[in-house]
Amino acid sequence: MSSPILTMSGISKAFTGVQALLDVNFQLRAGEVHALMGENGAGKSTLMKVLIGVHKADSGFITYQGNDVEFNSVLEAQKSGISMIFQELNLIPHLSVAENIFFAREPLKHGLIDYKMMRREASKLLDMFDIDVLPTDIVNTLSVAKQQMVEIAKSLSFDVEILIMDEPTSALTDREIDALFVLVDKLKSRGVAIVYISHRMDELRRICDHITIFRDGQYVSNHRFNEISMDDIIAKMVGRALDNHFPEKKAVISDELIFSAMNVTRHGVFEPLNFDLRKGEILAITGLVGAKRTELARALFGADKLSEGEVFIHGKQKTIRSPADAIKAGVAYLSEDRKLNGIAVKMSIRENTTMASLDKVSSNLGIISNKSEVEAANQYISKMDIKTPTVEQLVGNLSGGNQQKVVIGKWLFRDAKVMIFDEPTRGIDVGAKYAIYELLDELAHQGVGVIMISSELPEVLGMSDRVIVMKEGEMTAMLNTADTSQEEIMQYATGVKNMFPLLEEAI
Ligand SMILES: Nc1ncnc2c1ncn2[C@@H]1O[C@H](COP(=O)(O)OP(=O)(O)O)[C@@H](O)[C@H]1O
Ligand SMILES: [Mg+2]
Repeated sequence: MSSPILTMSGISKAFTGVQALLDVNFQLRAGEVHALMGENGAGKSTLMKVLIGVHKADSGFITYQGNDVEFNSVLEAQKSGISMIFQELNLIPHLSVAENIFFAREPLKHGLIDYKMMRREASKLLDMFDIDVLPTDIVNTLSVAKQQMVEIAKSLSFDVEILIMDEPTSALTDREIDALFVLVDKLKSRGVAIVYISHRMDELRRICDHITIFRDGQYVSNHRFNEISMDDIIAKMVGRALDNHFPEKKAVISDELIFSAMNVTRHGVFEPLNFDLRKGEILAITGLVGAKRTELARALFGADKLSEGEVFIHGKQKTIRSPADAIKAGVAYLSEDRKLNGIAVKMSIRENTTMASLDKVSSNLGIISNKSEVEAANQYISKMDIKTPTVEQLVGNLSGGNQQKVVIGKWLFRDAKVMIFDEPTRGIDVGAKYAIYELLDELAHQGVGVIMISSELPEVLGMSDRVIVMKEGEMTAMLNTADTSQEEIMQYATGVKNMFPLLEEAI
């Protein structure tokens, strides 16, 4: 085996509150396609961002082409031959393909940009790799797949030695993926090393030579791809420590249906999905990047349109075309980004509690009663044990866990019958997580339908009664939590297994 073109040793990186990488090692050889695998949050993107100078490592060394290096910017890394195609594309939408490729290093003639030369150079590059766009095309008129190809062309214009692709195919069709892989093969035969971050086993099998596995910010192992089975890969990816403890479940599950989704579909985003939720039950929805869980939640909440399907609440069909419809029907959505759309940080607990229910605290003439507002807010402060000196405290001054409680209070006051929590404990410290778990159980106990979207498998196993696993807009499993494991869930999340494989053909 040739000696490595890149060695990263002992790399550690902490963000506030998270050890994203701990003493990680990674080696890459010229001409190989090297997969990085690990659950969401395992540290794959962070490791690559450390390499290309987006993040500075807290400790560790990088050796590239025999020299110790430390890049201070993406441009510096690119100039040395290391480029990364980000999960979020990085082009400038209103500029042409050629302008994007040569951005900030346009060829000059007499001190002015030489557009003719720039187009010619771009054209050469695009032809060489059979990329089907024109140098003059404006980027925001191109499909995501083509934009990605432009990003790749841009990195090739730097004489790339290492090309990093972070989940490149999540937005591509099968044909576009084939085109991408043809390009990958070409690069490989020119000796370019490719780091390929993906969890799609079928793709990895087609193009990868080597694999390095991470778990919880730590290096687990590396293998030649053909020397490890899919099941072994998964076994090494999962098994995060079950270090949070979970409350003893109070809620008792009855047969009464609170919520049913029948054939709910959003064309091009998720396939017809069927599931229901019983009284007292906590239903988890899990999956990896691109599973479309949040998209499902947004559609159930009326924030995006369902193409087809019906929703029933307590047995009655409800038409949900907007968040206002959803709120009226009793569906609440608590998004991952609470600051953005769950809460008004500059308002008091009192105002946050009542803002979605002003009719309930107003007189017939529409005058808001401060006394009723204070009563309502106090009711939820005591019910949910919100730690605050007064109802007038600004919500922005509360801890993350207490903010979460205020949002829940707001929805309970609005008579929510079903609450969809999107990553309810993300960004919340370990201590406050337990309080959120107790709250979810308490809600289920009170008869509220609780749907919990979560990527944290320990949390899914610790909290839910049943779990839906999604992969790219499909439901690949519906499991009884008591009978499953992190490994089995990951098999469905990566598509190694699928409980409903015939669904697509049957439609
Ligand atoms: N800029 C950031 N600030 C704070 N935390 C971050 C940042 N980037 C990543 N993290 C955290 O670091 C961990 C590793 O994230 P990431 O490298 O994105 O994982 P992966 O790419 O394997 O899904 C996660 O817990 C993530 O939330
Ligand atoms: Mg990532």
